Amino acid sequence: MHDQNFKFEDGEAYEQTMGIWSQLVGFKFLQWLSPSINQRWIDVGCGNGAFTEQIVKNYKPSEVQGIDPSDDQIYFAKNRPGVQTATFQIGDAMALPFESDQFDFATMALVIRFVPDPAQGVAEMKRVVRPGGAVAAYVWDSLGGGMPHEPIQAELRSMSLKYPRPPSAEASNLEVLQKLWVDAGLRSVETQIITAERTFASFENFWSLSSNSQTLQSVLEDLDPATLGQLKSSIQARLTAETNGQITCSAHVNAIKGLV
Ligand SMILES: C[S@@+](CC[C@H](N)C(=O)[O-])C[C@H]1O[C@@H](n2cnc3c(N)ncnc32)[C@H](O)[C@@H]1O
Repeated sequence: MHDQNFKFEDGEAYEQTMGIWSQLVGFKFLQWLSPSINQRWIDVGCGNGAFTEQIVKNYKPSEVQGIDPSDDQIYFAKNRPGVQTATFQIGDAMALPFESDQFDFATMALVIRFVPDPAQGVAEMKRVVRPGGAVAAYVWDSLGGGMPHEPIQAELRSMSLKYPRPPSAEASNLEVLQKLWVDAGLRSVETQIITAERTFASFENFWSLSSNSQTLQSVLEDLDPATLGQLKSSIQARLTAETNGQITCSAHVNAIKGLV
């Protein structure tokens, strides 16, 4: 399917569907990265600033630059109250608009699957980080059932309904990530699986937020009402609701870090 499914256009919708998830994982990822305060950061594919906010809130950086190709997401990031000390601009992971050796940390949060040439994206992060600095990323383990929307995707698969895969989906795999980091010449490479849980007030709440992802929307809107109804009730049957109707979903990322 065409890559236009992976244009991230609506910063507000993204926040509810994915930004909250990214912050839940991003907080734990940063603890694992264990950075000092007062560092210079570049957040590549910052989107609407969901992860950037975790850097700003928790690690008092001296500088944060966020870049993303989506002007709608950058607009949302620029207006996000928690990140007023960060600078956001349109840009591409494949050609970062910065001089070499300028940052202490380069991060990619939930991005590498979308970068057309992941090796080039990692090389660019390495280029802009000073010797001794760190290049790190986390990405949904989408091929290993780690996506927050996995209950929906699993049911689509079992009904033989196709959904789009991002251009570099295989880069979400832990071994592929490790090879990318090692081949880029990064040192002391370490990986980690990080899990997050999110509770939804009800199945309808889960459904309205999760099916709102741009990728899934393009699939669901093409289904006839009967198939959509069948899909929805099969997904509901997969999820265990508590007595108050709440549903807790789990998802996991593959995370990686290495030194320049
Ligand atoms: C799932 S979102 C993650 C956003 C944010 N980092 C977060 O944690 O919420 C993926 C982001 O990657 C961006 N992206 C896609 N292709 C990119 C590229 N070539 N260079 C940089 N960012 C890219 C998208 O615009 C989108 O904002």
